[in-house]
Amino acid sequence: MAYTWLLALHSLWRWVVVAAVVGRLARAVGYRSEAYTATDKRLGLAAMIALDVQLLLGFGLYAGPSPATAAAFADVGAAMKDASLRFWLVEHTSMMTLAVVFGHVANIRVRRLTEDAAKHRAAAIFFGLAVLCIALAMPWPFRAVIGRPWFPGL
Ligand code: HEM
Repeated sequence: MAYTWLLALHSLWRWVVVAAVVGRLARAVGYRSEAYTATDKRLGLAAMIALDVQLLLGFGLYAGPSPATAAAFADVGAAMKDASLRFWLVEHTSMMTLAVVFGHVANIRVRRLTEDAAKHRAAAIFFGLAVLCIALAMPWPFRAVIGRPWFPGL
């Protein structure tokens, strides 16, 4: 029961994450020659919150109710030889955690920089890296073996 709800929430929240992180990247690129305003700051914060919530939901699944990670923990050696179990045990988790770290680094760098152009550049680089990690570690429906639906239950 907890698994079904947590998985559905984690699956749906991924769209909030995608919108927030891609939106933040697009803003950093599109407004690179403009002043760095409170809107940029707010969008950076929103992307961070979206990522942190997803990280919590992900670890909630990972540490307990996910049958995929439970099976993987039962025999890590065997799981590493199984493309699906290895994906959930290592690949999805590490790449997505890295994406969250990049989001935090972006906001920390932006806070420390003084020039507006440099702030936009730092946001573009680190949110660009976050988008890349998310795109690579997402269980897109068209991916063999680990593919999952676009929306829970579909
Ligand atoms: C930006 C961050 C993340 C995104 C966008 C994301 C996205 C997803 C998606 C789309 C699914 C498939 C849901 C479904 O079956 O409908 C999933 C499953 C899962 N994710 Fe994440 N995830 C993120 C971060 C994490 C992190 C950091 C962890 C672990 C620490 C994690 C652990 C899991 C687990 C355990 C599953 C379920 C596997 C299963 O039981 O079959 N995720 N994630």
